[in-house]
Amino acid sequence: MTPNVTLTIDNQTVTVPEGTLVVDAAKLIGIDIPVFCYHPKMAPVGMCRMCLVDVGRPVIDRATGQPVLDDDGNPVINFNPKLETGCTVTVSEGMVVHGKTDNVQEARNEVIEFILTSHPLDCPVCDKGGECPLQNLTMHFGPGTSRFVFDDKIHFSKNIPLGDLIYLDRERCIQCARCTRFQDEIADDPVIGFFNRGRRLEIITFSDPGFDSYWSGNTTDICPVGALTTADFRFGARPWELNSAASICNQCPVGCNITFNTRREVKSGGGFAIKRAMPRQNEAVNEIWLCDKGRFSSYTLGESDKRISQPMIRVDGDLKPVEWGAALDYIAENLGALEGSLLSVASGRLSNEDLYNLRKFTTHLNGETALYTHLAGGDLVTRVGLSQGSNLGDLGKGDAILVVASDLEEEAPVWWLRVKQAAERGATVVVANPRSTKLDRAATHKLRYIYGQELTVLDRLPEEFTKSENTVIFYGSEGLGLAGSAKLAEGLAGWLVNTGRSGKANNGLVAVHPRANDQGAWELGYRPNADLAASMAKSAALYIAGADPLGDTGMEAPEAFMIVQDVIMTRTAEAADVVLPASTFTERDGSYTSGERRVQRFYATVPALPGTRPDFTITAQIAVRFGLEIEGRFAPRIFSALAEEVESYSGLTYVAISRTEEQWPIVGRSDMYYGGTTYENSLGLGVQLPAGDGSFEGAWKAPSGKEVSGLTAVPVTVLYDQGSVISQSKTLAPRLAQPHVIVSASDAGELGLENGSIASVQVNGREIELSVRLDESVPAGFVLVPRSMGLNLEAPAPVKVRVLEKELA
Ligand code: SF4
Ligand code: SF4
Ligand code: FES
Repeated sequence: MTPNVTLTIDNQTVTVPEGTLVVDAAKLIGIDIPVFCYHPKMAPVGMCRMCLVDVGRPVIDRATGQPVLDDDGNPVINFNPKLETGCTVTVSEGMVVHGKTDNVQEARNEVIEFILTSHPLDCPVCDKGGECPLQNLTMHFGPGTSRFVFDDKIHFSKNIPLGDLIYLDRERCIQCARCTRFQDEIADDPVIGFFNRGRRLEIITFSDPGFDSYWSGNTTDICPVGALTTADFRFGARPWELNSAASICNQCPVGCNITFNTRREVKSGGGFAIKRAMPRQNEAVNEIWLCDKGRFSSYTLGESDKRISQPMIRVDGDLKPVEWGAALDYIAENLGALEGSLLSVASGRLSNEDLYNLRKFTTHLNGETALYTHLAGGDLVTRVGLSQGSNLGDLGKGDAILVVASDLEEEAPVWWLRVKQAAERGATVVVANPRSTKLDRAATHKLRYIYGQELTVLDRLPEEFTKSENTVIFYGSEGLGLAGSAKLAEGLAGWLVNTGRSGKANNGLVAVHPRANDQGAWELGYRPNADLAASMAKSAALYIAGADPLGDTGMEAPEAFMIVQDVIMTRTAEAADVVLPASTFTERDGSYTSGERRVQRFYATVPALPGTRPDFTITAQIAVRFGLEIEGRFAPRIFSALAEEVESYSGLTYVAISRTEEQWPIVGRSDMYYGGTTYENSLGLGVQLPAGDGSFEGAWKAPSGKEVSGLTAVPVTVLYDQGSVISQSKTLAPRLAQPHVIVSASDAGELGLENGSIASVQVNGREIELSVRLDESVPAGFVLVPRSMGLNLEAPAPVKVRVLEKELA
């Protein structure tokens, strides 16, 4: 354990671990030492000099090694004649720091004056105005006048795009290098940097497309001035006009904590509109970061042109708008007269409360539920997944992480970041995938296998892995359908249980689910259907909520009486007998359970679009027509009922998941210069579910080697796909990948394919034209087919790829 040292800062005594920086020690006791270049999540560089302080150290008697005392018995302190930078100086025993002396005040005054010599002072039109560290620190410490003539300043043309998502105003940059260091140290995407010297120094991007990183939005949070702004927010509002609402990103299973900023405006008829998504600190989940998918597309579904705002029923072949009562009565009439079974299909886009009500109602009618997903094994995660007290941020030296069948940055970006950071803290990180992924760069070991032979990696784990203190295994669905991922999950769960690595904090299995609340659905008893198309075809009635199976798979509309409940019009909704308009998650309350089994609450951010209702309300209103009274108005009451019934949620309440505690670093207060514009978490850190019984017995046996003849198509996930939610984001639209397949360089070379060729791809009886991308790390014999890009493969399948008239396989 690191020993503590005690020092005095501005006459207050503080005891902190050895190695703590003076700025951080001061922050702990509420003393603000102003900084620009320093950020508590990055290594100090000492570039801006804003944090200068007077530092004194006890005089030590060389003979005794003890502090020399004055006549009053106090240690004699020797002050450095020069000021020191509090962001680079580490604390020492007996140190005395002064941040309010005339010397210090004068130095800060001069640093501010110097920075302002090349700053445009366009605060009235700057997006950062109102939450700008430079503006705030100038007010606190700056000179009242400047000796610099405005016309002598260097002027650049304004606002140049660094890419589709981030704009740069070069004049405003104070050259602190927070953005470039973030991209190098944290995002591991060194795609921006400094160019030129002195006053002509500017930030440029080296990548094509510009600022090509899934993390670019974070630089706008930590930039201490308005030099970097996001495409969706710039000139959109002033910070003091904004309201804040706590929420959870619904784009992947990480469950990043978000604050949505809203404002009344014309575009919503004088009502509230969401202006931007900002990170909300949760050190056990996303720290203070968001990926760009979450930042720019988590809320845009609600703004989609495809929103449905009135129920519809099919009359003479066409969908006709009707009142809610008529639609619900029509459902009651048809379901009541049903001869045959009801199948309710729901996805992890729905909240725990929605899923609970839907399951209650379906069971009441003796129907069945199906989870709409391509990844199996969530039931095993319930039993051997992460549990209370787990925090990926605690994993480091002596711990081990295996990531198998997942391109983690594409599927759950913040988990990629957390695993990378664990590797940097000394954890053994094994990345197992048939091809290279970005996580390889952080891996201590890379294991390659042939698609279909995922579990062979368990026999090849490095010795340190098997001796680890704590072990977490992430598994995904790269190259796998439901059957394959079920086998993989079984094998991994069996290994964890057999080696004693389940049922305790910081150990267990994590499924890289495709949606935010998939694990919640598994915990509530939802299971995927092995042949969903066949089950839909033989059901008499279908109740499909938050899923678009027809749009995703191209399957034919089933004969059944079909109720579709969704936020936007989808292909499945177009084929429905009844369409019910649901409010989106930003318009109602609810909770999601993340892949780490953390139950987290989100709050209504904006009023619901008139005509829509929460999913849980709609289901309750149908249920009452069948004599089933379930809570349909208040999410907390539904959650209480759920917690009474579902064992793993036992005792949980909205109050419990809304609790917070002090986190480090201290961010999100009025001192935005320290952590950036990220929000303090005052509305809930969530609660992890307790450990499962860990009773699973691994039944998996090593598969026999598989002959690969011809080409095999395997499904993979990419972050910027063409899914129905992300494609509603106008900001991300230019960054979304076009439909494509990925082919190994060796197959391509042998068969004459080139990057960008248009190919006809034949698989599962379908033929579709897709462009070709080459990837030399893809194993020969396999064609990677990204999901939600026109061709959704449910499982590996033989494929033929034709370029022009040339047959490849
Ligand atoms: Fe610092 Fe912002 Fe300039 Fe980057 S753009 S160097 S974060 S002031
Ligand atoms: Fe949202 Fe996942 Fe990105 Fe977090 S990592 S912001 S949950 S998409
Ligand atoms: Fe310390 Fe910049 S030199 S904050």
